[in-house]
Amino acid sequence: MKYYLTTPIYYVNAAPHIGHAYTTIVADLIKRFKTMQGYRAVLTTGSDEHGVNVERAAARAGKAPAEFVAVIAREFEQQWRTLGLGIDRFMRTSDPRHHRKVAELFEACRRNGYVYKGEYRGQYCIHDNLYVSEAKPGDPCPECGRPTETVTEENYFFRLSAFEDRLLELYERQPDFILPETRRNEVISFVRQGLSDLSITRTNIKWGIPVPGEERHVFYVWFDALTTYVSAVDGEDLWPADLHLIGKEIVRFHAVYWPAFLMAAGWPLPKRIFAHGWLLFQEDKMSKSKGNIVRATPIQQVMGIDALRYFLLREIVFGQDGNFSYDALVGRYNADLANGLGNLTSRTLSMIQQYRGGRIPAPAGGVRPEIAQAAENTIRAAIAHFENFEFSRALEAIWSLLSSIDRFIVEEAPWKLARSSEPGAAERLDSALYTAAEALRVAAILLWPVIPASAERIWDQLGMEGPLEQVRLGELAWGQLPAGQAVKTPGALFPRIEPPQAIERMRELEAQETARQAALFAPKPSTAAAPATERISIEEFARIDMRVGEVRFAERVKGSDKLLHLKVDIGEPQPRTIVAGIAEAYAPESLIGRKVVIVANLQPRKLRGIESNGMIVAATPEGGKPVLVGFLEDVPAGARLS
Ligand code: MSP
Repeated sequence: MKYYLTTPIYYVNAAPHIGHAYTTIVADLIKRFKTMQGYRAVLTTGSDEHGVNVERAAARAGKAPAEFVAVIAREFEQQWRTLGLGIDRFMRTSDPRHHRKVAELFEACRRNGYVYKGEYRGQYCIHDNLYVSEAKPGDPCPECGRPTETVTEENYFFRLSAFEDRLLELYERQPDFILPETRRNEVISFVRQGLSDLSITRTNIKWGIPVPGEERHVFYVWFDALTTYVSAVDGEDLWPADLHLIGKEIVRFHAVYWPAFLMAAGWPLPKRIFAHGWLLFQEDKMSKSKGNIVRATPIQQVMGIDALRYFLLREIVFGQDGNFSYDALVGRYNADLANGLGNLTSRTLSMIQQYRGGRIPAPAGGVRPEIAQAAENTIRAAIAHFENFEFSRALEAIWSLLSSIDRFIVEEAPWKLARSSEPGAAERLDSALYTAAEALRVAAILLWPVIPASAERIWDQLGMEGPLEQVRLGELAWGQLPAGQAVKTPGALFPRIEPPQAIERMRELEAQETARQAALFAPKPSTAAAPATERISIEEFARIDMRVGEVRFAERVKGSDKLLHLKVDIGEPQPRTIVAGIAEAYAPESLIGRKVVIVANLQPRKLRGIESNGMIVAATPEGGKPVLVGFLEDVPAGARLS
């Protein structure tokens, strides 16, 4: 029995952050859960490498698109490996096998009469790669609010309008085709409003998959990207996918366009689409373009990847938006993992070492029926919740079992039983220790999909044999822990973390990672400086990343009359350090809180031992002092100048 699931393929115009990791971690969780249910689970992801956005990002970095995307695709691939996620195939849209599949899909749609040539004149959003048929020039994109651009071109069109009834019928016949319910309702009302035909090729860009026999045309990025779900497993008997896991902003592409393309081609449809909510940071969707991102590896380095996995799955109701904050992350870790699961594990194993020579005793006094019952209920509830994508509820159920075991241990007080000479005390001690160890075994199995490395350590410390992934949930029941088995010395599973230090360290590592990636994508220095009168193209101008900054800190650079050392908030997690030659014109204290313009993508430069990571923009009149550029209206730090 196979279970094929996918994540979206990520745009490679910026490096991965925990928003991308969120989807991929959940996909890894589901894959593990399905494996434990006995499926041959296969998970694919990849990189979405075409389109104007990527082309422009490459131009900004002064690189050829192919070279640029290769660097970021590698970052993504490496990221999933570093985080230990079970990716089976990583499909790049630049892969020739994928190109062939896209052409095949197009041909099949054309053969069946769903493709025709026409002229597209209208609005297009380059950010979302979306043709906005209802928009007029100057209208904003309905998805992101950015201004749309007017384009006129010869295109191939897909007869989306022919699929209204068939799509509605599909949603009706398979009510769980789109989950959760709210997304399903949105899609149904979108389709009910009527569907216009869709332009699926473009002639005004080059960076895409060429349409066979029509070399001026390249495929529309979504026609291209969605097809990776098929090309990633070509020839493997895995299609149709059992699950497409996506973020809520791309539901329309997956639940409307994609099934329509497949119906037109006569190819099988995926079985289910689950659209989850957004990870918010500082009250906004985490995204590179907003500059409010957090990366996974600094968290992994300080707290371990399981801490992040647990936090994301426990804190956020899957399907809804949820906040990320370092305080909440560390708080959950200390409360639930260090004091909760970690503490219960080390107490139990130490007591088995101390009182029973390191061997799990048989429950001579029996197991309290209410505990066995609670454990059976937890097993059933957790499995059902996992099955229904209710991960936070599954974890609540497991933690409620762990708390009842904690309470049970306090009641039984094994440390007293061990010293007691009363009749039956030894049997009660045996039963108490067995009960706690058995609860840990059950928890380790149920938690493997969520916190695999920690679950494996508990498994190992309990002396269990064989890999956890070979355990089958269908056979899981209370009371299967073999008595007499030797446990291992507990090593700290989740050492307690001091919040301020840990957060500080994660922020430092985050800044290092930002700098490393900035260097990776840094524009090549141009070979010749342009004389002031020479005209440059808009693309060349677009390479300069100018942003509004707010000065947070300013002091004179020791030993220099001209230089100020500034820290400027430009909408990134950390303020930028900038050394500016404006000390003769501005007193440091007069600058605090002032809005300025920063060139953010200059190569770093060391001035008097301080690394300057940007330049403050000022006008210097002949023979005069520099005057900073400012704004008449208020504008938030991080806003880009264009
Ligand atoms: N390339 C398209 C998808 C094509 S699929 C055939 C795309 N790429 S993306 O890089 O923008 O990534 C989108 C996915 O990343 C989202 O659907 C979501 O799964 C994940 N996320 C990116 N930022 C996120 C948050 N802030 N919060 C949650 N998930 C986020 O769209």
